[in-house]
Amino acid sequence: MKTLITIFGSTGDLTSRKLLPAIEKLLKDHLLDEDTKVIAIGRRDFQTDDYLDYITKTAKTSLDIEYLKRHVEYFKLEVNELSDYQNLKNYIDNHEITFERKIFYLAVGPDLLKEIAINIGVSELVTKGDLSSSITFEKPFGQDLASAKEINQMLWRYYDEKQLYRIDHYLGKEMIQNILTVRFANKIFENSWHNHAIKSVKIIAKETETILSRALYYDTAGAMKDMIQSHLLQMLALIAMEVPKSYQSEDIKDEKVKVFKKLRYDIDSVVLGQYEGYLDEPHINKDSKTETFVFLKAFCDTPRFKGVPFYLLTGKALEEKESVIIIEFEETPEQHKWDLPLKTNKLYIKIAPLDGISLTLNSKVPGLRNAVEQVDLDYCIACNAVGNMPEAYEKLFLDMAFGHKSLFTRWDEIELSWKFIDELRKEIKDSNTKLVQYKNHHDLYQTIKALTGEDF
Ligand code: BG6
Repeated sequence: MKTLITIFGSTGDLTSRKLLPAIEKLLKDHLLDEDTKVIAIGRRDFQTDDYLDYITKTAKTSLDIEYLKRHVEYFKLEVNELSDYQNLKNYIDNHEITFERKIFYLAVGPDLLKEIAINIGVSELVTKGDLSSSITFEKPFGQDLASAKEINQMLWRYYDEKQLYRIDHYLGKEMIQNILTVRFANKIFENSWHNHAIKSVKIIAKETETILSRALYYDTAGAMKDMIQSHLLQMLALIAMEVPKSYQSEDIKDEKVKVFKKLRYDIDSVVLGQYEGYLDEPHINKDSKTETFVFLKAFCDTPRFKGVPFYLLTGKALEEKESVIIIEFEETPEQHKWDLPLKTNKLYIKIAPLDGISLTLNSKVPGLRNAVEQVDLDYCIACNAVGNMPEAYEKLFLDMAFGHKSLFTRWDEIELSWKFIDELRKEIKDSNTKLVQYKNHHDLYQTIKALTGEDF
Protein backbone atom coordinates (compact mmCIF):
# COMPACT_ATOMS: atom_id res chain seq x y z
CA MET A 1 0.00 0.00 0.00
CA LYS A 2 1.37 3.43 -0.94
CA THR A 3 1.68 5.06 2.47
CA LEU A 4 2.43 8.59 3.54
CA ILE A 5 3.79 9.15 7.04
CA THR A 6 3.85 12.82 8.05
CA ILE A 7 5.78 13.41 11.27
CA PHE A 8 5.27 16.55 13.35
CA GLY A 9 8.17 16.96 15.76
CA SER A 10 10.61 15.54 13.24
CA THR A 11 13.70 17.18 14.77
CA GLY A 12 13.03 15.66 18.20
CA ASP A 13 14.80 12.76 19.92
CA LEU A 14 11.93 10.37 19.38
CA THR A 15 11.99 10.78 15.60
CA SER A 16 15.74 10.29 15.28
CA ARG A 17 16.07 7.51 17.84
CA LYS A 18 12.92 5.49 17.30
CA LEU A 19 10.62 6.57 14.46
CA LEU A 20 13.03 6.86 11.53
CA PRO A 21 15.01 3.72 12.45
CA ALA A 22 11.72 1.78 12.64
CA ILE A 23 10.53 3.10 9.26
CA GLU A 24 13.92 2.40 7.66
CA LYS A 25 13.83 -1.19 8.94
CA LEU A 26 10.28 -1.80 7.70
CA LEU A 27 11.17 -0.42 4.26
CA LYS A 28 14.31 -2.51 3.98
CA ASP A 29 12.39 -5.61 5.03
CA HIS A 30 9.76 -4.78 2.35
CA LEU A 31 7.04 -4.64 4.98
CA LEU A 32 6.17 -1.13 3.84
CA ASP A 33 5.65 -0.39 0.15
CA GLU A 34 8.62 0.98 -1.80
CA ASP A 35 6.45 4.01 -2.55
CA THR A 36 6.16 4.95 1.13
CA LYS A 37 7.11 8.55 1.81
CA VAL A 38 7.91 10.30 5.05
CA ILE A 39 7.25 14.02 5.27
CA ALA A 40 9.30 15.39 8.15
CA ILE A 41 7.70 18.56 9.46
CA GLY A 42 9.76 21.18 11.25
CA ARG A 43 9.94 24.91 11.72
CA ARG A 44 13.63 25.20 10.84
CA ASP A 45 14.73 26.38 7.43
CA PHE A 46 16.11 23.04 6.22
CA GLN A 47 16.38 21.38 2.85
CA THR A 48 15.87 17.62 3.06
CA ASP A 49 19.64 17.01 3.00
CA ASP A 50 20.24 19.45 5.87
CA TYR A 51 17.50 17.78 7.83
CA LEU A 52 18.96 14.32 7.33
CA ASP A 53 22.43 15.59 8.27
CA TYR A 54 20.99 17.06 11.43
CA ILE A 55 19.19 13.83 12.24
CA THR A 56 22.34 11.75 11.73
CA LYS A 57 24.11 13.85 14.29
CA THR A 58 21.39 13.45 16.91
CA ALA A 59 20.41 9.81 16.27
CA LYS A 60 21.93 7.21 18.58
CA THR A 61 21.38 4.48 16.00
CA SER A 62 23.19 4.68 12.70
CA LEU A 63 20.60 5.59 10.13
CA ASP A 64 21.24 4.75 6.49
CA ILE A 65 20.95 8.30 5.22
CA GLU A 66 21.58 7.51 1.54
CA TYR A 67 18.73 5.02 1.69
CA LEU A 68 16.43 7.37 3.61
CA LYS A 69 16.97 10.12 1.02
CA ARG A 70 14.76 8.09 -1.32
CA HIS A 71 11.90 8.20 1.14
CA VAL A 72 12.13 11.30 3.32
CA GLU A 73 11.14 14.84 2.36
CA TYR A 74 11.44 17.79 4.71
CA PHE A 75 8.62 20.34 4.86
CA LYS A 76 8.84 23.63 6.77
CA LEU A 77 5.72 24.54 8.72
CA GLU A 78 4.83 26.84 11.62
CA VAL A 79 2.43 24.95 13.86
CA ASN A 80 0.22 28.00 14.42
CA GLU A 81 -0.01 29.03 10.75
CA LEU A 82 -3.10 27.55 9.16
CA SER A 83 -1.91 28.57 5.69
CA ASP A 84 1.16 26.33 6.16
CA TYR A 85 -1.16 23.34 6.66
CA GLN A 86 -3.02 24.31 3.50
CA ASN A 87 0.31 24.43 1.65
CA LEU A 88 1.11 21.02 3.04
CA LYS A 89 -2.22 19.71 1.78
CA ASN A 90 -1.53 21.09 -1.71
CA TYR A 91 1.94 19.53 -1.59
CA ILE A 92 0.50 16.12 -0.71
CA ASP A 93 -2.42 16.36 -3.17
CA ASN A 94 -0.04 17.25 -6.00
CA HIS A 95 2.59 14.66 -5.06
CA GLU A 96 3.72 12.34 -7.84
CA ILE A 97 2.48 9.44 -5.70
CA THR A 98 -1.21 9.05 -4.97
CA PHE A 99 -1.19 7.76 -1.41
CA GLU A 100 -3.63 5.05 -0.37
CA ARG A 101 -2.99 5.54 3.32
CA LYS A 102 -2.00 8.73 5.15
CA ILE A 103 -0.71 8.74 8.70
CA PHE A 104 -0.21 12.03 10.56
CA TYR A 105 2.06 11.33 13.50
CA LEU A 106 2.29 13.91 16.28
CA ALA A 107 5.61 13.30 18.04
CA VAL A 108 5.16 16.49 20.04
CA GLY A 109 4.57 17.40 23.67
CA PRO A 110 1.04 17.83 25.09
CA ASP A 111 1.33 21.63 24.79
CA LEU A 112 1.41 21.54 20.97
CA LEU A 113 -0.80 18.57 20.39
CA LYS A 114 -4.12 20.42 20.47
CA GLU A 115 -3.20 23.20 18.06
CA ILE A 116 -1.67 20.84 15.52
CA ALA A 117 -4.59 18.42 15.68
CA ILE A 118 -7.09 21.24 15.12
CA ASN A 119 -5.15 22.66 12.18
CA ILE A 120 -4.85 19.24 10.56
CA GLY A 121 -8.63 18.91 10.82
CA VAL A 122 -9.49 22.46 9.71
CA SER A 123 -7.18 22.28 6.69
CA GLU A 124 -8.74 18.90 5.80
CA LEU A 125 -5.44 17.11 5.73
CA VAL A 126 -7.51 14.48 7.51
CA THR A 127 -11.28 14.55 7.02
CA LYS A 128 -13.65 13.07 9.58
CA GLY A 129 -14.69 9.53 8.75
CA ASP A 130 -12.15 8.97 5.96
CA LEU A 131 -10.53 5.80 7.25
CA SER A 132 -7.68 5.96 4.74
CA SER A 133 -6.18 8.73 6.86
CA SER A 134 -5.43 8.71 10.55
CA ILE A 135 -3.81 10.76 13.24
CA THR A 136 -1.44 9.35 15.86
CA PHE A 137 -0.55 10.81 19.25
CA GLU A 138 2.43 10.13 21.40
CA LYS A 139 1.92 9.80 25.10
CA PRO A 140 1.29 11.48 27.45
CA PHE A 141 -2.18 12.22 26.16
CA GLY A 142 -2.80 15.41 28.12
CA GLN A 143 -1.27 16.46 31.43
CA ASP A 144 -4.13 15.38 33.68
CA LEU A 145 -7.71 14.20 33.38
CA ALA A 146 -9.12 17.67 32.63
CA SER A 147 -6.66 18.46 29.83
CA ALA A 148 -6.93 14.96 28.37
CA LYS A 149 -10.75 15.31 28.28
CA GLU A 150 -10.51 18.65 26.58
CA ILE A 151 -8.14 17.27 23.94
CA ASN A 152 -10.32 14.28 23.40
CA GLN A 153 -13.51 16.28 22.98
CA MET A 154 -11.75 18.45 20.43
CA LEU A 155 -10.55 15.34 18.60
CA TRP A 156 -14.02 13.84 18.41
CA ARG A 157 -15.22 17.09 16.79
CA TYR A 158 -12.75 16.70 13.93
CA TYR A 159 -12.16 12.96 13.72
CA ASP A 160 -13.85 9.64 14.03
CA GLU A 161 -12.54 7.49 16.92
CA LYS A 162 -11.49 4.90 14.31
CA GLN A 163 -9.03 7.47 12.88
CA LEU A 164 -7.31 8.09 16.24
CA TYR A 165 -4.23 6.13 17.30
CA ARG A 166 -3.04 6.85 20.85
CA ILE A 167 0.41 5.39 21.31
CA ASP A 168 1.73 3.58 24.33
CA HIS A 169 4.85 2.08 22.82
CA TYR A 170 5.11 -0.53 25.58
CA LEU A 171 2.13 -2.26 23.97
CA GLY A 172 4.26 -2.83 20.86
CA LYS A 173 6.97 -4.65 22.83
CA GLU A 174 7.28 -8.32 22.09
CA MET A 175 6.71 -9.68 25.59
CA ILE A 176 3.85 -7.34 26.31
CA GLN A 177 2.11 -8.56 23.18
CA ASN A 178 2.83 -12.04 24.53
CA ILE A 179 1.17 -11.61 27.96
CA LEU A 180 -2.30 -12.67 26.84
CA THR A 181 -0.93 -15.71 25.02
CA VAL A 182 1.06 -16.80 28.06
CA ARG A 183 -1.95 -16.29 30.31
CA PHE A 184 -4.77 -17.67 28.23
CA ALA A 185 -3.17 -20.27 25.97
CA ASN A 186 -1.53 -22.27 28.77
CA LYS A 187 -3.65 -24.61 30.81
CA ILE A 188 -1.21 -24.49 33.73
CA PHE A 189 -2.13 -20.85 34.39
CA GLU A 190 -5.88 -21.20 34.08
CA ASN A 191 -6.43 -22.14 37.72
CA SER A 192 -3.40 -20.46 39.17
CA TRP A 193 -3.98 -16.93 37.84
CA HIS A 194 -6.05 -16.02 40.90
CA ASN A 195 -5.70 -14.56 44.35
CA HIS A 196 -5.69 -18.02 45.92
CA ALA A 197 -2.50 -18.86 44.07
CA ILE A 198 -0.81 -15.51 43.40
CA LYS A 199 0.88 -13.78 46.30
CA SER A 200 2.04 -10.56 44.64
CA VAL A 201 2.76 -8.93 41.31
CA LYS A 202 5.72 -6.64 40.75
CA ILE A 203 5.79 -4.38 37.71
CA ILE A 204 9.20 -2.80 37.29
CA ALA A 205 10.65 -0.39 34.73
CA LYS A 206 14.14 0.72 35.75
CA GLU A 207 16.18 2.94 33.48
CA THR A 208 19.81 3.99 33.44
CA GLU A 209 19.06 7.05 31.33
CA THR A 210 18.50 10.43 32.88
CA ILE A 211 16.07 12.93 31.42
CA LEU A 212 18.37 13.57 28.42
CA SER A 213 17.34 16.74 26.61
CA ARG A 214 13.70 16.57 27.73
CA ALA A 215 13.93 18.83 30.78
CA LEU A 216 11.06 21.10 29.80
CA TYR A 217 8.62 18.25 29.35
CA TYR A 218 9.93 16.04 32.12
CA ASP A 219 9.98 18.62 34.87
CA THR A 220 6.24 19.18 34.45
CA ALA A 221 5.51 15.47 34.19
CA GLY A 222 7.72 13.40 36.49
CA ALA A 223 7.81 9.62 36.64
CA MET A 224 4.19 9.34 37.76
CA LYS A 225 2.81 10.91 34.58
CA ASP A 226 5.64 9.83 32.30
CA MET A 227 5.67 6.12 33.13
CA ILE A 228 3.02 5.01 35.66
CA GLN A 229 -0.02 6.61 33.97
CA SER A 230 0.75 4.83 30.72
CA HIS A 231 3.23 1.97 30.54
CA LEU A 232 2.96 0.53 34.05
CA LEU A 233 -0.83 0.74 34.28
CA GLN A 234 -1.16 -0.86 30.86
CA MET A 235 1.02 -3.77 31.99
CA LEU A 236 -1.02 -4.07 35.16
CA ALA A 237 -4.27 -4.20 33.16
CA LEU A 238 -2.98 -7.00 30.92
CA ILE A 239 -1.95 -9.03 33.97
CA ALA A 240 -5.18 -8.45 35.90
CA MET A 241 -7.86 -8.53 33.17
CA GLU A 242 -10.43 -11.28 32.73
CA VAL A 243 -10.67 -13.54 29.69
CA PRO A 244 -11.93 -11.28 26.87
CA LYS A 245 -14.98 -12.26 24.79
CA SER A 246 -12.67 -12.48 21.79
CA TYR A 247 -9.15 -11.36 20.98
CA GLN A 248 -10.46 -8.45 18.92
CA SER A 249 -9.24 -5.02 19.88
CA GLU A 250 -12.48 -3.75 21.45
CA ASP A 251 -13.09 -6.86 23.56
CA ILE A 252 -9.58 -6.74 25.01
CA LYS A 253 -9.99 -3.03 25.79
CA ASP A 254 -13.36 -3.66 27.46
CA GLU A 255 -11.64 -6.01 29.90
CA LYS A 256 -8.73 -3.65 30.56
CA VAL A 257 -11.20 -0.88 31.36
CA LYS A 258 -12.89 -3.10 33.97
CA VAL A 259 -9.51 -3.44 35.70
CA PHE A 260 -8.96 0.34 35.76
CA LYS A 261 -12.41 0.77 37.33
CA LYS A 262 -11.44 -1.50 40.22
CA LEU A 263 -7.97 -0.11 40.80
CA ARG A 264 -6.96 1.61 44.02
CA TYR A 265 -3.66 2.60 45.60
CA ASP A 266 -2.31 2.40 49.13
CA ILE A 267 -1.19 5.95 49.87
CA ASP A 268 1.02 4.83 52.76
CA SER A 269 3.10 2.75 50.38
CA VAL A 270 4.15 5.59 48.10
CA VAL A 271 7.85 6.44 47.89
CA LEU A 272 9.01 9.23 45.60
CA GLY A 273 12.63 9.88 44.70
CA GLN A 274 14.74 12.28 42.73
CA TYR A 275 18.18 11.30 41.44
CA GLU A 276 21.15 13.21 42.74
CA GLY A 277 22.17 15.70 40.09
CA TYR A 278 18.64 16.24 38.74
CA LEU A 279 18.61 19.81 40.00
CA ASP A 280 21.84 20.50 38.09
CA GLU A 281 20.40 19.34 34.76
CA PRO A 282 20.06 22.18 32.23
CA HIS A 283 16.65 23.93 32.31
CA ILE A 284 15.56 22.35 35.60
CA ASN A 285 14.39 24.68 38.38
CA LYS A 286 16.84 24.58 41.25
CA ASP A 287 14.01 23.87 43.70
CA SER A 288 12.15 21.38 41.50
CA LYS A 289 10.21 18.74 43.42
CA THR A 290 9.63 16.56 40.37
CA GLU A 291 10.00 12.85 41.09
CA THR A 292 12.22 10.71 38.87
CA PHE A 293 11.37 7.56 40.85
CA VAL A 294 8.08 6.13 42.08
CA PHE A 295 7.25 3.09 44.15
CA LEU A 296 3.69 2.29 45.10
CA LYS A 297 1.37 -0.53 46.01
CA ALA A 298 -1.96 -0.85 44.24
CA PHE A 299 -4.85 -3.29 44.48
CA CYS A 300 -7.34 -4.43 41.88
CA ASP A 301 -10.58 -5.24 43.66
CA THR A 302 -11.91 -7.82 41.22
CA PRO A 303 -12.92 -11.30 42.46
CA ARG A 304 -9.81 -12.68 40.72
CA PHE A 305 -7.25 -10.34 42.24
CA LYS A 306 -8.81 -8.96 45.42
CA GLY A 307 -6.15 -8.72 48.12
CA VAL A 308 -3.14 -9.26 45.86
CA PRO A 309 -0.66 -6.37 46.02
CA PHE A 310 0.58 -4.98 42.72
CA TYR A 311 3.90 -3.23 43.35
CA LEU A 312 4.77 -0.63 40.74
CA LEU A 313 8.32 0.67 40.55
CA THR A 314 9.93 2.94 37.99
CA GLY A 315 12.87 5.31 37.99
CA LYS A 316 15.55 7.04 35.98
CA ALA A 317 19.33 7.17 36.52
CA LEU A 318 19.46 3.72 38.14
CA GLU A 319 22.32 1.25 37.66
CA GLU A 320 20.49 -1.01 35.27
CA LYS A 321 17.93 -0.97 32.53
CA GLU A 322 15.31 -3.56 33.34
CA SER A 323 11.62 -3.85 32.59
CA VAL A 324 10.09 -6.95 34.08
CA ILE A 325 6.86 -8.27 35.57
CA ILE A 326 7.30 -10.75 38.40
CA ILE A 327 4.35 -12.90 39.42
CA GLU A 328 5.04 -14.53 42.76
CA PHE A 329 2.95 -17.57 43.63
CA GLU A 330 1.88 -18.69 47.10
CA GLU A 331 3.68 -21.45 49.00
CA THR A 332 2.08 -24.90 48.72
CA PRO A 333 0.63 -26.30 52.00
CA GLU A 334 3.28 -29.03 51.78
CA GLN A 335 6.15 -26.60 51.71
CA HIS A 336 5.78 -25.89 55.43
CA LYS A 337 6.16 -29.56 56.33
CA TRP A 338 9.66 -29.87 54.92
CA ASP A 339 12.51 -28.58 56.92
CA LEU A 340 14.19 -27.28 53.80
CA PRO A 341 14.77 -23.79 52.45
CA LEU A 342 12.03 -23.82 49.84
CA LYS A 343 11.18 -20.72 47.87
CA THR A 344 8.02 -19.53 46.20
CA ASN A 345 7.59 -20.03 42.46
CA LYS A 346 8.04 -16.93 40.39
CA LEU A 347 7.12 -16.23 36.82
CA TYR A 348 9.28 -13.54 35.22
CA ILE A 349 7.91 -11.80 32.15
CA LYS A 350 11.05 -10.11 30.89
CA ILE A 351 10.47 -7.10 28.68
CA ALA A 352 13.89 -5.45 28.50
CA PRO A 353 16.79 -5.58 27.97
CA LEU A 354 16.25 -9.19 26.78
CA ASP A 355 12.73 -10.40 26.10
CA GLY A 356 11.77 -13.73 27.56
CA ILE A 357 10.03 -15.72 30.25
CA SER A 358 11.38 -17.67 33.14
CA LEU A 359 9.78 -19.72 35.84
CA THR A 360 11.54 -20.63 39.07
CA LEU A 361 10.84 -24.01 40.63
CA ASN A 362 12.01 -25.86 43.72
CA SER A 363 13.94 -28.94 42.75
CA LYS A 364 15.94 -31.59 44.52
CA VAL A 365 19.67 -31.07 44.34
CA PRO A 366 20.96 -33.93 42.19
CA GLY A 367 22.94 -36.48 44.17
CA LEU A 368 22.82 -38.19 47.53
CA ARG A 369 22.24 -35.20 49.78
CA ASN A 370 18.73 -34.35 50.88
CA ALA A 371 18.65 -30.76 49.70
CA VAL A 372 16.62 -28.53 47.43
CA GLU A 373 17.56 -25.70 45.17
CA GLN A 374 15.81 -23.18 43.03
CA VAL A 375 16.05 -23.83 39.31
CA ASP A 376 15.01 -21.68 36.38
CA LEU A 377 13.09 -22.72 33.31
CA ASP A 378 14.27 -20.01 31.02
CA TYR A 379 13.11 -18.95 27.58
CA CYS A 380 15.11 -16.15 26.05
CA ILE A 381 13.39 -14.93 22.91
CA ALA A 382 16.25 -12.83 21.64
CA CYS A 383 18.72 -15.70 22.08
CA ASN A 384 16.62 -17.92 19.78
CA ALA A 385 15.52 -15.31 17.26
CA VAL A 386 17.10 -15.20 13.85
CA GLY A 387 18.18 -11.60 13.14
CA ASN A 388 17.29 -8.66 15.34
CA MET A 389 14.07 -8.61 17.30
CA PRO A 390 11.67 -5.98 15.97
CA GLU A 391 11.47 -2.78 17.95
CA ALA A 392 8.11 -1.75 19.41
CA TYR A 393 7.79 1.12 16.94
CA GLU A 394 8.20 -1.20 13.95
CA LYS A 395 5.16 -3.17 15.04
CA LEU A 396 3.20 0.00 15.78
CA PHE A 397 3.94 1.57 12.37
CA LEU A 398 2.95 -1.62 10.63
CA ASP A 399 -0.32 -1.72 12.53
CA MET A 400 -1.02 1.94 11.70
CA ALA A 401 -0.31 1.29 8.03
CA PHE A 402 -2.79 -1.59 8.01
CA GLY A 403 -5.38 0.02 10.29
CA HIS A 404 -5.02 -2.44 13.20
CA LYS A 405 -5.85 -0.83 16.52
CA SER A 406 -5.39 -3.46 19.26
CA LEU A 407 -2.03 -2.10 20.38
CA PHE A 408 -3.28 1.48 20.75
CA THR A 409 -5.17 2.80 23.74
CA ARG A 410 -8.85 3.72 23.75
CA TRP A 411 -10.15 6.91 25.31
CA ASP A 412 -11.80 5.25 28.33
CA GLU A 413 -8.52 3.52 29.25
CA ILE A 414 -6.77 6.88 29.23
CA GLU A 415 -9.58 8.61 31.08
CA LEU A 416 -9.54 6.06 33.92
CA SER A 417 -5.78 5.96 34.19
CA TRP A 418 -5.64 9.76 34.48
CA LYS A 419 -8.37 9.64 37.11
CA PHE A 420 -6.24 7.19 39.11
CA ILE A 421 -3.11 9.36 38.73
CA ASP A 422 -4.87 12.66 39.51
CA GLU A 423 -6.37 11.26 42.72
CA LEU A 424 -3.08 9.73 43.72
CA ARG A 425 -1.16 12.95 43.06
CA LYS A 426 -3.66 14.98 45.03
CA GLU A 427 -3.38 12.65 47.99
CA ILE A 428 0.43 12.68 47.76
CA LYS A 429 0.31 16.47 47.91
CA ASP A 430 -2.14 16.51 50.82
CA SER A 431 -0.14 13.97 52.78
CA ASN A 432 3.15 15.79 52.16
CA THR A 433 4.88 12.64 50.91
CA LYS A 434 8.63 13.17 51.16
CA LEU A 435 10.87 13.22 48.11
CA VAL A 436 14.05 11.24 48.77
CA GLN A 437 17.32 11.86 46.94
CA TYR A 438 18.99 8.73 45.54
CA LYS A 439 22.19 7.59 43.95
CA ASN A 440 21.18 4.05 43.06
CA HIS A 441 18.44 1.51 43.55
CA HIS A 442 20.07 -0.10 46.60
CA ASP A 443 19.56 3.22 48.42
CA LEU A 444 16.00 3.19 47.27
CA TYR A 445 15.26 -0.38 48.32
CA GLN A 446 16.51 0.46 51.81
CA THR A 447 14.35 3.56 51.89
CA ILE A 448 11.32 1.57 50.75
CA LYS A 449 11.97 -0.95 53.52
CA ALA A 450 12.42 1.78 56.11
CA LEU A 451 9.36 3.78 55.06
CA THR A 452 6.88 1.10 54.14
CA GLY A 453 8.20 -2.16 55.57
CA GLU A 454 8.11 -3.69 52.08
CA ASP A 455 11.06 -5.92 51.26
CA PHE A 456 11.64 -5.32 47.62
C1 BG6 B 1 8.84 6.88 27.39
C2 BG6 B 1 9.14 7.86 28.47
O1 BG6 B 1 7.46 6.75 27.19
O2 BG6 B 1 9.38 5.61 27.75
C3 BG6 B 1 10.63 7.97 28.70
O3 BG6 B 1 8.63 9.13 28.09
C4 BG6 B 1 11.22 6.61 28.98
O4 BG6 B 1 10.93 8.85 29.76
C5 BG6 B 1 10.79 5.61 27.91
O5 BG6 B 1 12.62 6.72 28.97
C6 BG6 B 1 11.20 4.20 28.28
O6 BG6 B 1 10.95 3.36 27.19
P1 BG6 B 1 11.82 2.07 26.94
O7 BG6 B 1 11.20 1.45 25.72
O8 BG6 B 1 13.22 2.52 26.73
O9 BG6 B 1 11.68 1.22 28.18
